[in-house]
Amino acid sequence: MKITSFDEYQKAYKRSVDSPEEFWADIAGNFQWRKPWIKTLEWNFTEPNVKWFIGGKLNITENCLDRHLDKLGDKPAIIWEPNDPSEDHRILTYKQLHEKVCQFANVLKNNGAKKGDRICIYMPMVPELAIAVLACARIGAVHSVVFGGFSAQSIADRIQDAQCNIVITADGGFRGTKEIPLKNVIDDALVQCPSVKKVIVLTRSRTPISMLKGRDLWWEDEIKKVETQGNTTCPAEEMDAEDMLFILYTSGSTGKPKGVVHTCGGYMVYAGYTFANVFQYNPGEVYFCTADIGWITGHSYIVYGPLSQGATTFMFEGIPTWPNPGRFWEIVEEYKVNILYTAPTAIRSLMSFGTDVLKDKDLSSLKKLGSVGEPINEEAWHWFDENVGHKNCPIVDTWWQTETGGIMISPIAGVTKTKPTFATLPLPGVQPVLVDEHGNEVEGNGVSGFLCIKFPWPGMLRTTYGDHERCRQTYFSAYKGKYFTGDGCLRDEDGYYRITGRVDDVLNVSGHRIGTAEVENAINMHASVVESAVVGYPHDIKGQGVYAFVVSPNKHGDEDLTRKDILVTVTRIIGAIAKPDKIQFVSGLPKTRSGKIMRRILRKIAEGDTSNLGDTSTLLDPAIVEEIKAGAL
Ligand code: WT7
Repeated sequence: MKITSFDEYQKAYKRSVDSPEEFWADIAGNFQWRKPWIKTLEWNFTEPNVKWFIGGKLNITENCLDRHLDKLGDKPAIIWEPNDPSEDHRILTYKQLHEKVCQFANVLKNNGAKKGDRICIYMPMVPELAIAVLACARIGAVHSVVFGGFSAQSIADRIQDAQCNIVITADGGFRGTKEIPLKNVIDDALVQCPSVKKVIVLTRSRTPISMLKGRDLWWEDEIKKVETQGNTTCPAEEMDAEDMLFILYTSGSTGKPKGVVHTCGGYMVYAGYTFANVFQYNPGEVYFCTADIGWITGHSYIVYGPLSQGATTFMFEGIPTWPNPGRFWEIVEEYKVNILYTAPTAIRSLMSFGTDVLKDKDLSSLKKLGSVGEPINEEAWHWFDENVGHKNCPIVDTWWQTETGGIMISPIAGVTKTKPTFATLPLPGVQPVLVDEHGNEVEGNGVSGFLCIKFPWPGMLRTTYGDHERCRQTYFSAYKGKYFTGDGCLRDEDGYYRITGRVDDVLNVSGHRIGTAEVENAINMHASVVESAVVGYPHDIKGQGVYAFVVSPNKHGDEDLTRKDILVTVTRIIGAIAKPDKIQFVSGLPKTRSGKIMRRILRKIAEGDTSNLGDTSTLLDPAIVEEIKAGAL
């Protein structure tokens, strides 16, 4: 399954295009199936309808756990580092992880969970989060993990959309100096969620929380019950390759986040294949992905990808800058981390502390570095290369999305020649195309366009939960017969791809995807706001910052107080990650005669580039632009 030379990559790529079904059938043969598939692929991108490994039966946890027990049973599956370095770390071997997953799967069953049920997980970055995820997969329940930074309202929206019947959470979580009141947030969310019958609460912070009789249960008590029942094993549910594995909500350019659906067979094959290849994982290596399991990166490259390959996956509860900005390097040194996969925003933030914190750290264990989530700027790329990799580690700049399930365009570590800021070449099985605004394919090299994918790959989304039409509309309607990524892209003279960023109204703030419409809706919920427009602007550390233009003629208190009110409102409606960095009060927004907000102009003003605002003659009130320009922050 592992490609080890550029020549092999080229051969694999060619084969994946010439005979995709044979190519993927061979890859899938490296996994454990209860029953083989009858047909490898069925697809069209019009409905869309995509099915891989049709008729195949499996359980992903047998691939991530059971099949490794013989050879790797006593090897570490998860190494966990707590937020507070003075607290003990934990190591779970494959045997121990298997047992804990089985136990918790039995807890879920004891509480009525069945195959197909949707279960919401809102937890801190502790091993029990991975255990909860795998326990759901074990019994065929569909997990919907919600990142610990989202608000009660966001959780409620997600729970209602998927009609979850169980929530798994913790009393509280730790991140840096902060304690996150997870259970309190869940309690607020559940006021709106009659579908939820049980809440299972892990003890983490042991902060006082409400525990409702009949609904709320302590994780530890439930484990004791299965222990006294002697229920330490749990046969894995047989799943169809196309059965749902999980839902993960992500923001788009309009309205509420959509539930991206991934299925058991194709997702497993894709996450495992891309993990093994991109990172060139070798047995015994310690692999550290700094993402949170609340995002797709954590799903695919902390849990499923690495575990399916018998890797040792490192989980970190804290943040890179606490108790000091050398925390990542202390971890690398102490645990002899071999592969570090992180985000440009983290690199930029650490850069700002200088290289002193790196000087006395032994980073010689590092062999491969990875970047994900947003375009990596040249400066950050070189800093990572020089100060972390000591020019000895290939950097894989991996481009992909929640919807793609796994890495799509990326170097293969040590195999593909890298080029700063370029995600380089498509992985085998990935057929990218660039199209112009008319939907015509832009061929050749030294060109740019909108990035689309013209052939299915096993890890792609199958639908958006409960609303297939939305899936069609969002991804498959802009360019006929193609999956549209929402990204702009250039292909240079060497055929290398560089992702230039979103071309829709989606922002990428610190690698987090935020819909401008969503933020606007939240701002508009504030009592003194009439309307608002949100755009992104370049931000040194976050990549993009959130700039809000707000019409609020009747402020209650002064501007500063109203600004703070708006921030509190956005935090309550979406979560702190969506808080605007800048709020400019304006008397009106630049609109066309038909009432459409001209975001192009606002974007330029937010970027501080007001020299050429383009044609403003179609504006209803051109004077407003002068006012906004004059008041720009
Ligand atoms: C969007 C997807 C995929 C895991 C994390 C984000 C941007 C992602 C890169 C990269 C340039 C990137 C794109 C994409 N993006 N990786 N290596 N270079 N841009 O997942 O939240 O679904 O966001 O992140 O704009 O569309 P996501």
